[in-house]
Amino acid sequence: MQKETAKDAAPENSGDAKAIDVQGLHKAFGELEVLRGIDFSVARGEVVCIIGPSGSGKSTLLRCVNLLEEPSSGRVTVAGTEVTDPDVDIDLVRRRIGMVFQSFNLFPHLTVLENLTIAQRRVLRRDRAEADRIARVNLERVGLGEKEASYPAQLSGGQQQRVAIARALSMDPELMLFDEPTSALDPELVGDVLAVMRSLADEGMTMLVVTHEMSFAREVADRVVFMDGGVIVEEGIPERVVGDPQHERTRTFLARVLDPAAAEVGEVADTGPTGKRVDR
Ligand SMILES: Nc1ncnc2c1ncn2[C@@H]1O[C@H](COP(=O)(O)OP(=O)(O)OP(=O)(O)O)[C@@H](O)[C@H]1O
Ligand SMILES: [Mg+2]
Repeated sequence: MQKETAKDAAPENSGDAKAIDVQGLHKAFGELEVLRGIDFSVARGEVVCIIGPSGSGKSTLLRCVNLLEEPSSGRVTVAGTEVTDPDVDIDLVRRRIGMVFQSFNLFPHLTVLENLTIAQRRVLRRDRAEADRIARVNLERVGLGEKEASYPAQLSGGQQQRVAIARALSMDPELMLFDEPTSALDPELVGDVLAVMRSLADEGMTMLVVTHEMSFAREVADRVVFMDGGVIVEEGIPERVVGDPQHERTRTFLARVLDPAAAEVGEVADTGPTGKRVDR
């Protein structure tokens, strides 16, 4: 399980080693300033986890990366293509980005296999045999080779999310964005989805992951970004940001996430972040 670290890897398709580069990103919804100057980048092959309280702008940041939201100002570049360029062919850029949401967004009236092949055939113009072959490879990858004829309603939430990941992989993305992929799942189903994400990371996939799973962030992320109030408060290796945060806001957030009961009874200030594993 050799993980290519992006820093020394040769860029594949362009001269730019950055998979994502965000500069001076602002986003407002009317009066509400949701992103207030974000600068950050993700190198090819890197796994970056974004953590932070509800409403801090994590999803909005992710959505600005593939232009599901239009930034108010700033520059966003994905795999060497500036997506904020008014002349960009955004469909072409989006094809290179796999996106997995909290809700799985599978087509209920299509089988698992059809869910994986529809975009391959319509967008990438693959013929049926080729699309089926690639879909089956990716179903095996997420441990669901047996389920190709099932309909989404016949699967557990965790299985549906793994289908959603396999669907994204079937489009041969250069990078994957995940927005709280496990937070809608029953606790016992979370592990299988995280295991799939972990193996993707081990294979060298570039991943930007919004998550509350601190054990995943600690073990899999190359870098953790803590956001609050529309800015990046701190970022760095997980041992540092999760294990030894420098800012009070990060400490308060982590104490709440890692030990909700302690936060409720007001023990946060004494205990601080324990950095302990949350086995969910
Ligand atoms: N389309 C929209 N129109 C108006 N306000 C929005 C829109 N999308 C998000 N917001 C607001 O922007 C802020 C940030 O939202 P965002 O979804 O990015 O937060 P988040 O960090 O992902 O939170 P959570 O952890 O709850 O998912 C929130 O106050 C939200 O209400
Ligand atoms: Mg969100």
